[in-house]
Amino acid sequence: MRVIAIDGPAGSGKSTVAKALAQRLGLEYLDTGAMYRSVAFAAMRRGIDPDEADQVARVATDLDLRLEADGRVMVDGVDATVEIRGPEVTRAVSIVAANPGVREEMRRRQREWATKRDGGVMEGRDIGTVVFPDAELKVYLDASPEVRASRRSKEVADLAYETVAADLARRDALDQGRAHDPLVEAADAVVIDTSDLSVDEIIAAVLAHLS
Ligand code: CDP
Repeated sequence: MRVIAIDGPAGSGKSTVAKALAQRLGLEYLDTGAMYRSVAFAAMRRGIDPDEADQVARVATDLDLRLEADGRVMVDGVDATVEIRGPEVTRAVSIVAANPGVREEMRRRQREWATKRDGGVMEGRDIGTVVFPDAELKVYLDASPEVRASRRSKEVADLAYETVAADLARRDALDQGRAHDPLVEAADAVVIDTSDLSVDEIIAAVLAHLS
């Protein structure tokens, strides 16, 4: 099994790099953040408060979640591709992702995904530390808070830079400070600060670590 783990905070370049790498290596790509976002979306749609831990964990276990090869995300039969990236889900997702019951179920699905394919490029927060601690390569991407907020605010055109920066800082704190599977560099991860690197430079830096 060939697993490449790409972890790091929002706006560090994970998605771009993970997708490019998957294509280069002929592997499939899994966005585990989209899975946590889908749980948050499904809970909200069912009128469940993100703080209701038991109910949200139940949503995670009985969720019909399909991440299609073309990037579409189907949640309980509904196309949620756009909504899972929206401000409401983004506001709730880190609370949902701190729920140990949700994490256990997502971890199980992520391992199953990779086992079925004999590997893949997986991006997230805890792939190299928890989901696949034996991954062939673990990459931890980072960048300054300002660079990450500016990248993200270019993607979400309808939100002001300050709003995006405040959201990122809040999510960073929740993701790094939670009790279960916090965002942290694996001891054996290749750490790359992408603040001043182009996409091609980041990909080259990652490929240099693959034999
Ligand atoms: O794309 P962005 O970096 O904004 O976030 P994402 O990768 O879509 O992840 C959204 C949220 O899901 C993160 O802020 C984490 O709270 C959670 N997450 C997680 O806890 N573990 C993962 N492996 C992936 C995401």
